[in-house]
Amino acid sequence: METDGINKDRTDKDRTSKAQADVAHPLAGQVAVITGAGRGIGAAIARALAGLGAAAVLCGRTPAALDSTARAITQVGERAEALPCDVTSLQSVEAAARHVEASFGRVDILVNNAGIGGFGGPLHQLPPEAWDQILNTNLRGVYYTARAFAPMMIRARSGHIINISSLAGKNALPNGAAYAASKWGLNGLSYSLAEELRGHNIRVAVVCPGSTNTDLSPHTGKDPAKMLQPEDVAHAVVMLVTQSPQSFVSEILLRPTQKP
Ligand SMILES: NC(=O)c1ccc[n+]([C@@H]2O[C@H](COP(=O)([O-])OP(=O)(O)OC[C@H]3O[C@@H](n4cnc5c(N)ncnc54)[C@H](OP(=O)(O)O)[C@@H]3O)[C@@H](O)[C@H]2O)c1
Repeated sequence: METDGINKDRTDKDRTSKAQADVAHPLAGQVAVITGAGRGIGAAIARALAGLGAAAVLCGRTPAALDSTARAITQVGERAEALPCDVTSLQSVEAAARHVEASFGRVDILVNNAGIGGFGGPLHQLPPEAWDQILNTNLRGVYYTARAFAPMMIRARSGHIINISSLAGKNALPNGAAYAASKWGLNGLSYSLAEELRGHNIRVAVVCPGSTNTDLSPHTGKDPAKMLQPEDVAHAVVMLVTQSPQSFVSEILLRPTQKP
């Protein structure tokens, strides 16, 4: 009888510590692919998702930057892997997806964060190469990653795709028309993809942040202290991926509390 009591105590303790671990690490066992994870918003998203227990797969063009984000994550005992990938190249994106499938056998979260700015002047003066680079990164790149990674999620009947757009995808942006067009396009892509994948139990959401304190733009005349911080955008992503299974927040417009 005494032994039974000890065993019961142990079982209760085991259950309690497992429940505590589940609360602290709700993404344990999951795999999150984050594009543009070498710096800025993408690095903050990667740190946040790894902190909740996911294995973070860090994509971007600059291996040293990816390694630096990976080190920051693994040094605190969490899981991350740098996976160089250029989202403007279908070949590169497909190779990344093959690698994730072979190494992990799953992808639970895809965050399409890689993006470039372009705020230098009016559209009629924008060189065609700059137009191509902006649209190919911010819009075509998301088509490529959806094409490469969605089939894995469809097979698993589960997943989150989160596209980091911008309030510039909701408003006019003089001297940034190509950037605005890429983000308006990304919103349309996201709403449509969401309906295509909803029946497969995959949630596609879009996050539209305002001015965020990163290297993306000079943010001339704005107060960095009032701007959103990369961690604020990461927090919005965390909210999306920790919803209950029947709940689907499809869009977040994220503004700084005070205009910077
Ligand atoms: N900062 C803002 O005010 C703000 C506001 C709203 C929305 N956003 C959006 O948030 C996202 C992240 O921006 P951020 O502010 O964090 O900018 P950032 O600091 O300049 O970071 C951009 C990231 O994208 C990666 N990237 C660029 N081209 C790529 C490509 N072809 N393939 C793979 N990765 C690529 C960069 O890495 P490599 O150069 O090493 O490839 C970098 O890690 C972007 O989509 C941006 O439009 C930013």
